[in-house]
Amino acid sequence: MTWPEWAPPEVDTGRANIARVYDYWLGGTHNFLADQDAARAIAAVAPTAPLIGKANRAFLSRAVRFLVSQGITQFLDVGSGIPTQGNVHEVAQDANPASRVVYVDSTSVICCKVVCTHRARFRKGSVI
Ligand SMILES: C[S@@+](CC[C@H](N)C(=O)[O-])C[C@H]1O[C@@H](n2cnc3c(N)ncnc32)[C@H](O)[C@@H]1O
Repeated sequence: MTWPEWAPPEVDTGRANIARVYDYWLGGTHNFLADQDAARAIAAVAPTAPLIGKANRAFLSRAVRFLVSQGITQFLDVGSGIPTQGNVHEVAQDANPASRVVYVDSTSVICCKVVCTHRARFRKGSVI
């Protein structure tokens, strides 16, 4: 396997990670075979799980657009997951280019290379 540019070297590709499982359900590309296998095994016993993930993501997008419409320009996204489609900074900056976002997640695979664009940063950390 060619090591993907987005993955930090400490990532154990043989062990599923919930952030990457979620990324797989959303149609993202930041996941490995172990994540895909786990995602399929979970969906086999909980078929609505992938749909719930997509619905959650759609809600996130609507909520961010609403907040921007109310004048919010700074976002702290705790438990951000892996950047995939419709990231907070993309939605917020689409509505207001001055929006700034800090992502926080306890999973180190969350890759700042993807989100560390202008006015978006990532920090590894846990809220617990
Ligand atoms: C289901 S994903 C949510 C992704 C995104 N917020 C969304 O709504 O689409 C949950 C994320 O929370 C992260 N997480 C779980 N426990 C956490 C903690 N104690 N501190 C920070 N992040 C945590 C996981 O690594 C995972 O990426």
